[in-house]
Amino acid sequence: MTMLIKGGTVVSATGTSETEVLVDDDTVVALLAPGSDLATSAEGGADTVLDASGKLVVPGGIDAHTHMELPFGGTYASDTFETGTQAAAWGGTTTIIDFAVQSYGQDVRACLDEWQGKADGQCAIDYGFHMIVGGVDDASLKLMDVLVDEGITSFKLFMAYPGVFYADDGQILRAMQKANGNGAMIMMHAENGIAIDVLAEQAVSRGETAPIHHGYVRRAELEGEATYRAIQLAKVAEAPLYIVHLSASQALEAVANARNEGRNVFAETCPQYLYLNLEDHLGAPGFAGAGYVCSTPLRSKHEHHHRDLWQGLRTNDLSVVATDHCPFCMKDQKELGLDDFRAIPNGIGGVEHRMDLMYQGVVAGELSLPRWVELCSTTPARMFGLYGRKGVIEPGADADIVIYDPKATTTISVETHHMNMDYSAYEGTKIDGKVDRVISKGRTIIADDAYHGTKGDGQYLRRGLSQYLL
Ligand code: URP
Ligand code: ZN
Ligand code: ZN
Repeated sequence: MTMLIKGGTVVSATGTSETEVLVDDDTVVALLAPGSDLATSAEGGADTVLDASGKLVVPGGIDAHTHMELPFGGTYASDTFETGTQAAAWGGTTTIIDFAVQSYGQDVRACLDEWQGKADGQCAIDYGFHMIVGGVDDASLKLMDVLVDEGITSFKLFMAYPGVFYADDGQILRAMQKANGNGAMIMMHAENGIAIDVLAEQAVSRGETAPIHHGYVRRAELEGEATYRAIQLAKVAEAPLYIVHLSASQALEAVANARNEGRNVFAETCPQYLYLNLEDHLGAPGFAGAGYVCSTPLRSKHEHHHRDLWQGLRTNDLSVVATDHCPFCMKDQKELGLDDFRAIPNGIGGVEHRMDLMYQGVVAGELSLPRWVELCSTTPARMFGLYGRKGVIEPGADADIVIYDPKATTTISVETHHMNMDYSAYEGTKIDGKVDRVISKGRTIIADDAYHGTKGDGQYLRRGLSQYLL
């Protein structure tokens, strides 16, 4: 079956063009100049012709940081691979990279098998895995080499959450040395968890138990310090480093300094760190702030984090926007921490809204259209070994294509979102622009405000090494 998408503006990481896109089955086969003999004959011969006039034609979004069904704080992230990937599709994301989780003392292989089992046959869109190594020991280090060969080419370590996922500096160094040998990317949750736990204990003993104290104790300095330390450890190990969910100016400065020295240090941020803040959201009346408890935390609006992060997105010191999608319902989940912010499960759901929220950066003049595509699709593909197949509309690529209507508007709400959450962190946010149609491997899965896909359409992606390291 062939499909011609005509009349739209095709946006890539390098520019825009008024080209027509010809898809055969699940693959892009040609980009055609409108009106050319080839375009005309393609229109006559294509099984389907889509008119994208006035719309943007962009590569499907790649969310490189999601946590479907993540076990956290005695509960599980509320989206399954089925519900979470459908929600992603609604928002124009056609690939996720989720995190398989190994905790201390567990067998990495068994944990990965468990995550493969959770996702297999459930997903609406293609998916890959990073591996969380919560227990760095001889066995897990050895398996890192094997997993790289199997297409799991990135490993997340934690400088936070002592007693849960925390790795000490020696363990981190050993894992980084491994990555030096096998070409993997080390992804770091960079917060000084030991110091944070002391501050959290002190806060609770003073009776400071409300959600906003989650943000007060997870000081920006402690994200900056951990980021700097991770960068130094990576330098010693001669390994690349990717900082996840960066939220503080201090951390961005450490990343920018390392990059100015020519180091292979990369960082992602997430929409919540660009739009939400500590005072208004974490500090919302009553217990509502619990809905904004995530780590790293939302930062103070009285400092310059938002401004600096937008700038970092332009200078490429921040090169990826992911969501860190980790939803929990208020009822029975966030409520676990009613009396103590330390017991609130950490995470915000947003996999459905990333393309829309980042498009607001284009509307506001913070980002160009090509940079929007680069941050949300092309660089994640290149960073995590998917490029060529994903992240681009060109012959040979998977036909993962979003038709985006820049003139339509929507409003984000729990009433209309598709994530399995009983609130929205972005309730009432007005969006200029709207996902009009989502095509995954040549098949329309979202159109006319309806889902047309089937559970299990999404397939597992074996990933290659990061292109930025070759
Ligand atoms: O609050 C967050 N980020 N929850 C998910 C786990 C993590 O650290 O990414
Ligand atoms: Zn993290
Ligand atoms: Zn995360």
